Amino acid sequence: MQQARVIADRDFIIDALDRRVFGAFVEHLGRCIYGGIYEPSHPTADQDGFRQDVLALTRELGVTIMRWPGGNFVSGYDWRDGIGPKEQRPRRLDLAWFSTETNHFGTNEFISWCRKAGIEPMMAINLGTKGPDDARALVEYCNHPGGTEYSDLRIAHGYRQPHDIKFWCLGNEMDGPWQICHKNAQEYGRAALEAAKVMRWTSEGLTLAACGSSYREMPTYGAWEYEVLEHCFDKVDFISLHQYFHNRDNDIAKFFTHVDKLDSFITEVSAIADAVAAKRRSAKRIMLSMDEWNVWYKARTPIDLAKPGWPEAPPLLEEVYNFEDALVVGGALITLINHADRVKSACLAQLVNVIGAIMTETGGPAWRQTIFHPFAQAARLARGNVLRLVTECGSFSAGDYPAAPLLLSAAVHDPHTGKVAVFALNRSPEAMRFAADLRGLGTLVINESFELQHDDLKATNTKDAPDRVSPVKHPACAMAKGELDATLKPLSWNVFALGKA
Ligand code: AHR
Repeated sequence: MQQARVIADRDFIIDALDRRVFGAFVEHLGRCIYGGIYEPSHPTADQDGFRQDVLALTRELGVTIMRWPGGNFVSGYDWRDGIGPKEQRPRRLDLAWFSTETNHFGTNEFISWCRKAGIEPMMAINLGTKGPDDARALVEYCNHPGGTEYSDLRIAHGYRQPHDIKFWCLGNEMDGPWQICHKNAQEYGRAALEAAKVMRWTSEGLTLAACGSSYREMPTYGAWEYEVLEHCFDKVDFISLHQYFHNRDNDIAKFFTHVDKLDSFITEVSAIADAVAAKRRSAKRIMLSMDEWNVWYKARTPIDLAKPGWPEAPPLLEEVYNFEDALVVGGALITLINHADRVKSACLAQLVNVIGAIMTETGGPAWRQTIFHPFAQAARLARGNVLRLVTECGSFSAGDYPAAPLLLSAAVHDPHTGKVAVFALNRSPEAMRFAADLRGLGTLVINESFELQHDDLKATNTKDAPDRVSPVKHPACAMAKGELDATLKPLSWNVFALGKA
């Protein structure tokens, strides 16, 4: 049996956890919007055409902020196409996913959906085919109270109150040659700066995120972040990161190290942003928005990426998640939590059908994919200060990591309620004795405990067996003398919600 020990102290704090790390993403892609969150003919649809079954699962997932409308889609999107009477909206060719976009879902529908879901909107602007002028007009449409062309247009469309959208992404993956109107770092950095200026002049109090690299293996990685921030450092708050994990080699140990790569990625981008700050002798710290992350590799064949004939909302990127994917998602959540001082926003990509935590059948039911569970538990229970853990455990060697820790864990303490949430991922094929010495946190009892484990790493949740991979009450845990003691099954995700005795 593996042995692992962690020590936490209420005064040793990484930072307060920003709840925006439990964000997600909905893109006009495949059946994410149409057939996912919006399906007027669905039996559960409300008067706005929103599927109530998906809304209920979204609330259960605990998403705090939602990115929209893309993704690659946004780089060809004209927001004016998606406002006003639906019957007058144009049908367009979407050059990102080679589909026909009906524009029946647009800005006002997105905001209405977010309000119903109790989620903060995160809007992305088009810095591909469009630019700063279009962005400032959109901000005026959304946030200005009235008395101007675009704000009065919003009012005429039935939305008297401004949408008051705070968080904006300045484009999407602009370093990628696949992006509609891809730019080099100088072109993008200048466009981001000028867009940021006019957006801020139009509406006060915006939070702006510049595009970082599309992924860590991009040839321009590092230089891209540096040059982009050299241009727009003074006008942006965040730089974005995207990472998709894969198990193409069918090697669970190597698959796990994608989470260690995420850890390296966050550390590296923080260092690059701080180098730009240092050169300017600036105390400002650019925060990180991990605004696309998930497992994605099975549904990545050409036919998963585009269907012939310009169809409307075809099934694309419909990744079916298995148990090992849920473990990796759990590891990623622990890593994001443990970087609470720099990662202040993150979006699981995506919410539904398209590499989604939720899967639906058009006209049929909706169910939870395996990855839904660790996300929902972390989003519900991780509140307060992230504690800096001292960890002793064994290690394994895989991929680029000769000594990756077998245990990944995080502890979050809410100083108002005294509650502590402990998350522990056992990456060992052996069982693990897990002891957590929780200092200065008073006498704690276990209020809730969960284990997510399955003997078949490839087990999935399906329409007919939607709960095959689901958490159960933890079978082997106890609190004694300020110490949490548990036996973690081989390759398992474990959650302990502790409270005052
Ligand atoms: O999330 C799917 C796609 O992945 C997004 O459109 C793009 O930004 C990324 O490459």
